[in-house]
Amino acid sequence: MGSAKIAEGKTKIVRPYREGYALLEFKDDITAGDGARHDVLPGKGVLNAQTSAYLFRVLEGKGISTHYVGMYDERTMIVKYLKMIPVEVVLRNIATGSVVKRLPINEGERFDPPIIEFFLKDDSRHDPMLNYHHMEHLKLMTRKEAERVEEIMYGVNDALFPLLKSKGLILYDFKLEFGRLGDELVVGDEITLDSMRVREEGTGRILDKDLYRKGADLETVRKAYEEFYRRLTS
Ligand SMILES: Nc1ncnc2c1ncn2[C@@H]1O[C@H](COP(=O)(O)OP(=O)(O)OP(=O)(O)O)[C@@H](O)[C@H]1O
Ligand SMILES: [Mg+2]
Repeated sequence: MGSAKIAEGKTKIVRPYREGYALLEFKDDITAGDGARHDVLPGKGVLNAQTSAYLFRVLEGKGISTHYVGMYDERTMIVKYLKMIPVEVVLRNIATGSVVKRLPINEGERFDPPIIEFFLKDDSRHDPMLNYHHMEHLKLMTRKEAERVEEIMYGVNDALFPLLKSKGLILYDFKLEFGRLGDELVVGDEITLDSMRVREEGTGRILDKDLYRKGADLETVRKAYEEFYRRLTS
């Protein structure tokens, strides 16, 4: 697809579509370390578009508002065009990644209830963590909106955790981005192995982008993304 772009990030392109809608094209690029590492992984865009679409449909089925409308082609989603909030919202079921580096929390510790964190999308500042006060001051979200976002995050976890568990997979954590449509807060962006941590139950085998972060070869990463999609949809 070669038409005009509204925005292009490291892994997706937003293009204009009919009034109120946009096309979200998933590229084959994979990046880590705020873009410090970058590769092209043929097939990844299609897998991530399909994975996202599947999971957005699951959420819609549970009454959670998402931007998902349908597929335009195998790597391009038709979405409701949202006014995106430049905040990454993370829900953690099991501790891994940045939280065990920042805080005296051990790898693999269970959070009960799950914990939610907010980060500013700002690569040059390495996505700093935000609290309600920062978000109000920066006019990102009011406290009321942040509390609504937390409710939606718990709803998404209540849908996805058991679904993955039924496939022998454990959802360690996930990240969502939200946008505004009128005065509604809507789940936008993507739900993929770039934005979730998923481990095989029992073996602890990693299936998500941590493989790439830890330096696995690209074919191993591609196979993991493919296996996840196959198990999810089986
Ligand atoms: N429904 C939507 N309406 C409008 N913009 C959207 C929608 N869903 C996602 N976007 C935007 O699409 C853009 C491109 O996504 P992409 O993930 O590639 O870029 P990014 O998030 O800016 O950078 P990064 O590579 O750090 O994720 C993002 O700015 C994201 O906020
Ligand atoms: Mg992104």
